[in-house]
Amino acid sequence: MEGNAKGVAADPVLADIIATDEKHYLRAFGARTPVCVERGEGSYLYGTDGKRYLDMIGGIAVSLLGHGNPRLVRAIAEQAAKVIHCSNLFYNPNQTALAARLAALSGLDRAFIANSGAEANEGAIKLARGYFHKLGAPRTRIVAMKASFHGRTLATATATGTEKYSAPFGPLPPGFVHVPYNDAAALDAAVDGDTCGVLLELVQGESGVRPATQAFVDAAAAACRRTGALLIVDEVQTGMGRTGTMFACERYGVLPDILTIAKGLGGGVPIGAVLAREEASKGFAPGDHGSTFGGNPLACAAALAVLDEIAEKGLVARAERTGAFLRERLAAVAAETGRIDEVRGLGLMIGIGIVDARAVGVRDRLLAHGVLANAVGTSTIRVLPPLTLSEDEALEFCGALASALKEG
Ligand SMILES: Cc1ncc(COP(=O)(O)O)c(C=O)c1O
Repeated sequence: MEGNAKGVAADPVLADIIATDEKHYLRAFGARTPVCVERGEGSYLYGTDGKRYLDMIGGIAVSLLGHGNPRLVRAIAEQAAKVIHCSNLFYNPNQTALAARLAALSGLDRAFIANSGAEANEGAIKLARGYFHKLGAPRTRIVAMKASFHGRTLATATATGTEKYSAPFGPLPPGFVHVPYNDAAALDAAVDGDTCGVLLELVQGESGVRPATQAFVDAAAAACRRTGALLIVDEVQTGMGRTGTMFACERYGVLPDILTIAKGLGGGVPIGAVLAREEASKGFAPGDHGSTFGGNPLACAAALAVLDEIAEKGLVARAERTGAFLRERLAAVAAETGRIDEVRGLGLMIGIGIVDARAVGVRDRLLAHGVLANAVGTSTIRVLPPLTLSEDEALEFCGALASALKEG
């Protein structure tokens, strides 16, 4: 990338880091943006190049409160001074309090706290299979969606409906089938008496920010009722206020049997959770599942602080308002530049369709304007900013986007 060479030349610290990284970091990631993040404040990140960047990626839907939120920083520091970790051989009050809070927020009964989205989804898949095993009528098939994303472990990469994430790592766990997203008839035909779970996102994030239709979600719920399969909704990206409701489920009027969350829950501290209805939770008996770090006092203190801040500052409603404002301004940028063909998404989870499929170039030019955004696929700029984003910051983004579009 052209910007890469420029960035490296301007920043000797970055040049050193890239050289060491290329030598010692496992070659797992695609090309990284040539910015080395040193610190953050509110909606901005600061690089070792001394530059300030408007963070419209938010750690890919993680940094809900922005950077350096005082309540979150204090909660982490205070908890670290008390105790950082204890085994799940013991109780810790934060874990119990968080499970109760998540149950109250979601309308589900029980929570298992994990460390990531993939680990939460892995737990959900095990729970669904375990449920039918315990009923004495084993079912193993999970019906998942094409173009979905559920994580990088073997089972969640197999559940992910894009082969490139799993194909090199076979043999893959059996029992996963994929149907086209938003195709209610195909979903209905795929769900039968062997299906233990239907796994879906309500907005597919990684494949371009594509919301489910109401008819599709209704069909998934109906197919589960018809066959007894469990409805598993992956809200790893959409959860915790991102889409303008605490969970995207609320928008669709559906209460799943199992709900997974992660990303924003800890405001940047790694944490995920499997939430389940009482009946579905019977899929785990004592000793069936566990996690060394999952639900430790530090991560749960962070999550409790995030939930307090979301409630006190009204961040869910704010995400809805700022999202609507941003979409309205993006419509104006589309009219002005003629380079945007569609603006998709809910709340502050927004995909901007770029005509001519040149999203990567737009992303790179945004970087030159001091804005971090994400390109997914060839034609979508995805933005997942902090829920605390102000209208002025939204306008700053729109101004930079208009310039980036006119330049390319
Ligand atoms: C919908 C969804 N599920 C699961 C995951 C995996 O989460 P993690 O990277 O925390 O394992 C992601 C990550 O992007 C996601 O967007």
